[in-house]
Amino acid sequence: MSKSETTAAAETLPPLTHIPAHIAIIMDGNGRWAKARGLNRAAGHRAGTENLRRVLSAVVEMGVPILTIYAFSTENWERPRSEVRVLLGLIERVLDTETEELARNGVRIRHIGRISGLPTRVVNKIRQAEAMTRYNERLVLNVAFNYGGRAEIVDAIRAIINEGLDPDEITEDTVSAHLTTGGLPDPDLIIRTGGDQRLSNFMIWQAAYAELYITPIFWPDFDREELHKAILAFGHRQRRFGRVESDEA
Ligand code: IPE
Ligand code: IPE
Ligand code: MG
Repeated sequence: MSKSETTAAAETLPPLTHIPAHIAIIMDGNGRWAKARGLNRAAGHRAGTENLRRVLSAVVEMGVPILTIYAFSTENWERPRSEVRVLLGLIERVLDTETEELARNGVRIRHIGRISGLPTRVVNKIRQAEAMTRYNERLVLNVAFNYGGRAEIVDAIRAIINEGLDPDEITEDTVSAHLTTGGLPDPDLIIRTGGDQRLSNFMIWQAAYAELYITPIFWPDFDREELHKAILAFGHRQRRFGRVESDEA
């Protein structure tokens, strides 16, 4: 497809009226995408990483202020050593090759999840990317790597106890503030690619009232148009937060 055709296709997408303040994506299905093509899982992860570049530029362009991506869970360490090595290699490579462009595009990179357990080289690159982009405000990009919702809650409890807070003073806001997403609004929309209907330990506290959008499309194929579809669907959801419409009383 030529450049002008791509632009034309983009222009035919209906306008988005409701842009979520915070989108979180469970980027799943790399392995199945590869299998369907007779490729190995590593090839699927590489294709997934390529896709991330495309989705990031679409997210910036659409004006989404916060994006959280689930890249590696605390349970993913249980995968074969060779696959874990591939995934660690890919995060390093993405940080090496993408940070500068993301910095130029106004993206602030933040790591969420446990730093402990990650190789020093990866930790240093994460810290470098965070420092280099810390004053950017166009898009906050939370990279959930070695992230688990339960681990995050355990760490928050430990921090609260260490601070010696009075138990009676602990509120939901106290817990939220001690999570690695502290200071950011909860996700409005959680997208899961690859079709599985579960959260897999992702943002289990923050997901309380998130709208869920699950698509069978595998992550490497989840393009700008699919993202647009997800945000459009979000715009048609009626969020009640446990309340009823005032005229239904
Ligand atoms: C998502 O793809 C990437 C990670 C979990 C790291 P998968 O590797 O889980 O792909 P499937 O679900 O096996 O297809
Ligand atoms: C969730 O996918 C984790 C990431 C996308 C990083 P998994 O593939 O690990 O989830 P399960 O095992 O199918 O629940
Ligand atoms: Mg999976």
